[in-house]
Amino acid sequence: MRKPIIAGNWKMHMTMDTGRAFVREVAAGLGDTEVEVVLCVPFTLIQPLKAAAEGTPIKIAAQNMHFEDSGAYTGEISAEMLKEAGAAYVVIGHSERRQYFNETDETVNLKLKKAHEAGLIPIVCCGETLEEREAGNTEAVVRRQVIAAFEGVSPEQTVTTVIAYEPVWAIGTGRTATAAQAQEVIGYIRGLIETMYGDVISEEVRIQYGGSVKPDNIEEIMNEVDIDGALVGGASLKPDSFLSLVNF
Ligand code: 13P
Repeated sequence: MRKPIIAGNWKMHMTMDTGRAFVREVAAGLGDTEVEVVLCVPFTLIQPLKAAAEGTPIKIAAQNMHFEDSGAYTGEISAEMLKEAGAAYVVIGHSERRQYFNETDETVNLKLKKAHEAGLIPIVCCGETLEEREAGNTEAVVRRQVIAAFEGVSPEQTVTTVIAYEPVWAIGTGRTATAAQAQEVIGYIRGLIETMYGDVISEEVRIQYGGSVKPDNIEEIMNEVDIDGALVGGASLKPDSFLSLVNF
């Protein structure tokens, strides 16, 4: 059985005060949830929010990392630093990183391997642009991204990796993929993992949907057979909204 995982990606939002208050309020409203609850926070909030979340089911994630162990890379952060600060997960290859910060399939692969080496659980993102979808290239794009991301990644590492399918055209646009559209591509990704690693791994690997997930569409998304969770931007910034996602 795959444990559902719902992650809030705060992007470049929230402060120490609003972050701590958020963790307190969400922890109080969680009850004994069956869902894995993750907050992907700005680097400076990893340590304080890990402390604030102590004794609660909330796990902390970073939103990016560098693939080298250390070196002259001004402004970058290593997997080990994230781990030391208290991150358990790290988002890799988000489309905003690909779009604005020159993230490539190759760097995604290097980061994925380094994250595993450091004992972080990667949440690796893939997804097509509107142009690619309209040209009928969705599967080809996702296939290229997934194959490249997992190059040289072992079956043991793959099974603990979380994949997030986030169509670029659905991010922050209010234009959600329908549950059926999300299922179609996520089912395709699971099939791809099966071809690459066999059915035991593909049945266990968790695949999230991301892109304008809201309290009013979470249930139908989670009802799809291959969708194991959500990676949520805008609707993860308010405790009550995030709680209604987690308690869907
Ligand atoms: P929105 O939920 O704001 O569309 O963002 C999705 C996303 O990019 C999560 O990583």
